[in-house]
Amino acid sequence: MASFRHHFSSMHLVWMACFHVYVLCAFAELQRFEQPTKDDGSISFLVVGDWGRKGNYNQSNVAFQMGRIGEELSIDFVVSTGDNFYEDGLRSINDPVFEKSFSKIYTAKSLQKQWYSVLGNHDYRGNVKAQLSPSLRNIESRWICLRSFILNAEIVELFFIDTTPFVDKYFLKPKHHRYDWRGVMPRQHYLSNLLKDLESALQDSTADWKIVVGHHTIRSIGHHGETKELKKQLLPLLEANNVEMYINGHDHCLEHITSSTSQIKSNF
Ligand SMILES: *[C@@H]1O[C@H](CO)[C@@H](O)[C@H](O)[C@H]1NC(C)=O
Repeated sequence: MASFRHHFSSMHLVWMACFHVYVLCAFAELQRFEQPTKDDGSISFLVVGDWGRKGNYNQSNVAFQMGRIGEELSIDFVVSTGDNFYEDGLRSINDPVFEKSFSKIYTAKSLQKQWYSVLGNHDYRGNVKAQLSPSLRNIESRWICLRSFILNAEIVELFFIDTTPFVDKYFLKPKHHRYDWRGVMPRQHYLSNLLKDLESALQDSTADWKIVVGHHTIRSIGHHGETKELKKQLLPLLEANNVEMYINGHDHCLEHITSSTSQIKSNF
């Protein structure tokens, strides 16, 4: 009976969650996830980007170290900044690359936590709908990948933003690549809605820390340099709403960039 009740209440929760999502969608807001903190109110997480190489290019070595550090820090979740599957995203929801580059690589115990992922430009070269499909969670329940969404972890709120559609060159000079823009066109409409949703979510946030996560650089001293579209359209929003930090991938190196106008007392 107890287990039946349990079953019933989780079904109920699932239904409530769907209803909630439906209501949010009706108002075109960003989907929200909740992440509880540790008992002392703290949270710790790892960030990784530009990784899915079937273990090659030192992916397995990095995964091993993530497992070790993840254990040490007793992490609560993992953030992925996109370019999850090289070279061209996933082909379908049955693409073996999903397991070869994810399930079979991040096997450490400490990494069996929720992963929150956005898409990178390489993911857009594959079947985007497949990579975003909730049915991937049947293979890996820790996989959550959406274009843009919010993760509320009490002291910190993370705003995940789909940055690839901002970048002009993927539309104007795609070279020999094909990008899957289903769901993104008309582009200006998509981008202005996204910026509007982000702005209202940032304004409403009461979290101590506001962190924005995206694939592309805003400022950079690395290989790709700055992303001028994000510097122009996204950066002013972050500054106006006291966002403490923007975390990105794309550059394949570790950079820590601060600004002289930043309010934050950086302890890194
Ligand atoms: C793997 O890492 C080692 C040590 O940093 C480096 O010398 C090597 O080039 C890397 N291999 C690849 C394929 O990137």
